[in-house]
Amino acid sequence: MKKIVVISGSGNKNGIGIKTFKMFKENFDEKEYEFEIIHLTDYNLKTCRGCTICFKKGEEYCPLKDDVSKIVNVIDNSDAIIIISPIYAMNISGSLKTFIDRTSYALHRPRFYNKHAFIITTTDGAGIKHVTMYLKYMLNAYLINFAGSQGVYSYLFKNDEDYKAKLKNELIEKAKKFKFEITRGKEYQPSFMQLARFKLWRLKGIMSKDSYLKDSSYWEEKELLEANYFYPVKLSNFKKNFLKLISKRVEKLLSKKIK
Ligand SMILES: Cc1cc2nc3c(=O)[nH]c(=O)nc-3n(C[C@H](O)[C@H](O)[C@H](O)COP(=O)(O)O)c2cc1C
Repeated sequence: MKKIVVISGSGNKNGIGIKTFKMFKENFDEKEYEFEIIHLTDYNLKTCRGCTICFKKGEEYCPLKDDVSKIVNVIDNSDAIIIISPIYAMNISGSLKTFIDRTSYALHRPRFYNKHAFIITTTDGAGIKHVTMYLKYMLNAYLINFAGSQGVYSYLFKNDEDYKAKLKNELIEKAKKFKFEITRGKEYQPSFMQLARFKLWRLKGIMSKDSYLKDSSYWEEKELLEANYFYPVKLSNFKKNFLKLISKRVEKLLSKKIK
């Protein structure tokens, strides 16, 4: 049984985002997939105070006592994530942004790298393209495998049956791809960008040892100092050399910045 957690940033539990998710879910056999929906507005999520203690000492020392770790635990125990965000003021919703801010430590110390994600964005008119792009960028930064997206225009969803029928068909195809990614297993072949980010975060962690001790010890404790990725991956010589080159450049840049 595969577990999919749905993180909804909408304030409306019966909104177009959730309705689109329900349409998407019809393509999943309930004997094989179970879903848990997290409406972020149901949770106590405080806004980040910018103390950077989570980077320096660890997220367990965050002075804000609320529900962030509860949600992170659910993600940890799932195979995949569906992120729902309405476009609010031309951006993702505030609750979703708060959750992303509060889990920024997982950018420095990746913990969701074996997950697959699907993005649903909804709007009355604008913003789908750049909001999806932002979320896709963030997934990449968390080293989560981006496995598809769907943008939805609310007024068409509500008023245009042809639009809804087309959407339903698109979701059938997208569900196929999402399921393919999930069943490919946790140890899928990372993309070139993911490999590069792995190296970059590791270098940054190691090089900022004095200020961000927790970040540097992460790589040591996980015995990843010499690894190509979190798990064994086969790399062509071309990729290996290219990554080496990037590492050297980044090392140079970082050493200038850190000095
Ligand atoms: C606070 C707020 C801000 C919004 N800002 C925008 C916006 O900037 N552009 C837009 O096209 N729609 C905007 N909308 C409309 C929503 O994106 C749209 O209603 C969407 O369907 C909401 O998703 P939901 O039904 O899943 O909750 C806004 C709605 C709210 C409540």
